[in-house]
Amino acid sequence: MGYPGRGWGGWTLLLWLAALSLLLAEGRRIRHFRCPPGCTCTKDNALCENVRSVPHTFPSDVVSLSFVKSGFNEITGGSFVHSPNLQLLLFTANSFDLIDEDAFQGLTHLEYLFIENNRIASISPYAFRGLKALIHLSLAYNNLETLPKDVFKGMDALTKVDLRGNNMICDCKLKWLVEWMHHTNATLDEIYCSGPPIHQGKKLNDLLPHSFDCITTEFASYQLLKFESISVDAFTFGNEEYVVFAQPFAGTCSFLEWDHVEMTFRTYDTIESTSTVVCKPMVIDNHLFIIVAQLFGGSHIYKRDSSANKFIKIQDIDILRIRKPNDIETFVIDGESFFVIADSSKAGSTTVYKWNGIGFYSHQSLHPWYRDTDVEYLEISNKPHLILSSSSQRPVVYQWNRSQKKFDRRTDIPDMEDVFSVKHFRVKGDLFICLTRFIGDSRVMRWDGAMFKEVQTFPSRGSMVFQPVSVGKWQYAILGSDYSLTQVYQWDTKRGQFVPSQELSIQAPRGFSVVSVDNRVFLFASSFKGKTQIYEHIMIDLSE
Ligand SMILES: *[C@@H]1O[C@H](CO)[C@@H](O)[C@H](O)[C@H]1NC(C)=O
Ligand SMILES: *[C@@H]1O[C@H](CO)[C@@H](O)[C@H](O)[C@H]1NC(C)=O
Repeated sequence: MGYPGRGWGGWTLLLWLAALSLLLAEGRRIRHFRCPPGCTCTKDNALCENVRSVPHTFPSDVVSLSFVKSGFNEITGGSFVHSPNLQLLLFTANSFDLIDEDAFQGLTHLEYLFIENNRIASISPYAFRGLKALIHLSLAYNNLETLPKDVFKGMDALTKVDLRGNNMICDCKLKWLVEWMHHTNATLDEIYCSGPPIHQGKKLNDLLPHSFDCITTEFASYQLLKFESISVDAFTFGNEEYVVFAQPFAGTCSFLEWDHVEMTFRTYDTIESTSTVVCKPMVIDNHLFIIVAQLFGGSHIYKRDSSANKFIKIQDIDILRIRKPNDIETFVIDGESFFVIADSSKAGSTTVYKWNGIGFYSHQSLHPWYRDTDVEYLEISNKPHLILSSSSQRPVVYQWNRSQKKFDRRTDIPDMEDVFSVKHFRVKGDLFICLTRFIGDSRVMRWDGAMFKEVQTFPSRGSMVFQPVSVGKWQYAILGSDYSLTQVYQWDTKRGQFVPSQELSIQAPRGFSVVSVDNRVFLFASSFKGKTQIYEHIMIDLSE
């Protein structure tokens, strides 16, 4: 067997070609490959130790790059744009703590990124942007407590993420990661939560998106009304929402209606009166009545005349019984409509009135010779009751006697002097009352089947109102103060107590009312000495 040209001459040619190619390679290296100081380089990889910054002079065809014990503080944006062919990048035992936006920009071929045993505490939400080919990401053994939402967005090739050895706080900020884990094909190594207390020591991998309670709520200032008011009542009439205020100084009941286009509350009508303290709406058989209580000049009942589009006075209330009205409640028992006026004069008497189809007549006078400040209608064990608060004795509980069709005095609330008002609310079938005291501690009590028992006390200073407010599944109690900020408490179902949630600045608050319109919820706060305020109840998702 023989090859043409074989012999000494042939070998020489081959050797010469080999030598030439080596020379060419060397020449390329000399022209393009300057291994940066502190790094050791071979043709396609480089290892840098103790460098102060990320060098930019690697060969363009380097495919793997490692940094060990480097001195830089962060990986800045675009650090590797000069090495677009990198497939593996490793940082270990470095001291940097920050990865900036677009740190790995241009690395469209990068498949492995190990950032381990550093001190990373903060990663930009766009740190990994553009890493389309990345398969394996390790951020193990750093100081991470959280990861910004959607930091892995667009990294569709990921199959493995390693977050071991960090101090992950599994709170709402990390809820997205739990959701992501349930959707992604990538696997995550086991991560133990360092907090918050309810998740401490648990595996993040075991948590479910609904393990996170991330919706918080707030009353946000929405509209200021340029008048003082002493009471506020929201009502629905003919499928529209209205609010009526008693304006004591102007001497009017002023009505607002919701403007669905302008998204504000605008003036609807007014009823002129004097020294108005309560304007109580009552809808009976699609007719709107307003009971207007005045400190002087007696109290009156108005009816909305739909054809004339105005309120017409239909009745005066017996001035011998009602001398100094302070509060009005309306209620229905067995299909019959009633209202009750609490009278705070010594000679007057808290009186129940009943609708007889034509007008209202006094049905029963309760509690003579006491100065009642407040009356509350509520059902206790499905039976109608009234609770009367007065400045001279403990709150008194009356029970409706069905055969007599009258309220009978039943009991009082023990050890509770100086209660200005009592308002009730329910949480999951349990009945609670809020007791307002001007100086001293306001209370929340729970009905235990036989009596009201104390649940919680609230220091109150100058409080004329401690009112429960329900918005959907949220239960609040708002404690007004004439001397300091108004405190909003929110019911904590787990603790079975109220916890402070927000402070509102209202001058001399006197009452609150909630209106739901167009899927929005508003809280009206009457102010006796300042501007009446409207707040919107808003929800905030802490995981966003
Ligand atoms: C997971 O893998 C399946 C099958 O390869 C693929 O169809 C799907 O799009 C992947 N899901 C994600 C979120 O990447
Ligand atoms: C209702 O009143 C009548 C007459 O005063 C009394 O005999 C009866 O016991 C009362 N009913 C209840 C449930 O208190």
